[in-house]
Amino acid sequence: MTNPREEKKSWSLDSKVVHGYQGYDPYTGAISFPIYQTATYKHASLSDQGKYDYSRGQSPTREELEDTLALLENGQHGFAFSSGLAAVTAIFSLLAAGDHVVVSDDLYGGTYRLIEQIWSKYNVEFTYVDTCSLDAVAGAIRGNTRMIFIETPTNPMMKVADIAGISNIASARNILTVVDNTFLTPYYQRPLTLGADIVIHSGTKFLAGHHDTMAGLIVVNDNQIAEDLRLIIKTEGSGLSPFDSWLMLRGIKTLAVRMERHQQNALALADWLKTHPKVEEVYYVGLPEHESYDLSQRQASGFGGMISFTVTNVSLVEQVLSRIKLIMFAESLGGTESLITYPMVQTHASIPQEIRERVGITDKLLRLSVGIESAEDIIRDLEQALA
Ligand SMILES: Cc1ncc(COP(=O)(O)O)c(C=O)c1O
Repeated sequence: MTNPREEKKSWSLDSKVVHGYQGYDPYTGAISFPIYQTATYKHASLSDQGKYDYSRGQSPTREELEDTLALLENGQHGFAFSSGLAAVTAIFSLLAAGDHVVVSDDLYGGTYRLIEQIWSKYNVEFTYVDTCSLDAVAGAIRGNTRMIFIETPTNPMMKVADIAGISNIASARNILTVVDNTFLTPYYQRPLTLGADIVIHSGTKFLAGHHDTMAGLIVVNDNQIAEDLRLIIKTEGSGLSPFDSWLMLRGIKTLAVRMERHQQNALALADWLKTHPKVEEVYYVGLPEHESYDLSQRQASGFGGMISFTVTNVSLVEQVLSRIKLIMFAESLGGTESLITYPMVQTHASIPQEIRERVGITDKLLRLSVGIESAEDIIRDLEQALA
């Protein structure tokens, strides 16, 4: 059999997302990759126990998803977990007591909670810095720093970090650079090609794309890190189930068309929000006035579908959330339906008030995951909600 990676080397990402790694089941020819719903596998003999033995270790459906993500991220090894936070947990499991991590000061609240309430107990130290500043990142490094963990663009303030700049600082000191690529997906941004060592996703979001499953994905190039992650996923039992792996594979097939539409709608929405008298500030990476617009254009091929904005008066928050009809008030992001959240009390509630306010997560901030409905309908819905 030819190597799918070699075969698809010259394909554009639009084709790779549709066909995945193998693209069909090599045993039956099934074009919808099968859900291998089994916990265990019959061994041929004592000397030939086969490629698969127990589904906690690996399943063919999960493997197809992992290889597909690795293909899309231009990496060698993929890993699929039961959620984005299970994937972040696996990354921190690469560390040892006494290690230090530099991390974005604006990041998903659940990652913050994982750091503060779980990992800090194990004598792993974390320093939060504004990862938009290379000087701040370099200044936070200590003798025991093993990892720099960045989200870019950040959730929810849409701050952009210079992936190549940070990777250069890190690799010169033998430090791993980890990039949470949830917001842009490999369709728009491929951190490994910019020098990062580990890329991680909440697959629950744009990759799955339909608000119907949860997953976490990691892709790496280094063989030793891959071996360590393989041990962690098998030993901690955090691998994605065959059914959820299949849902992910199905979602990824439409990633290219969905991302284009999310972005087209987000651009229209951001332009409209900018002119609204009851909107104070609009945070969207695709606006030319965004402080990192040029950097975004250099390191990514698109801006994605996430917007945050502040309203002029806190009373408008409840008004908007109660009046919207097409847009739904719900956690999460990245699916076909437009969702709005109130980060201060939802996704970022675990972050202490003084940190929240410093980074801009105030009582007037709303985060909008722009869906793939008609842009006009989304705008009309927000217009009547803000009126
Ligand atoms: C940027 C980012 N990273 C990680 C996560 C965690 O992923 P999950 O909810 O799949 O555990 C989220 C969830 O919202 C997120 O937005």
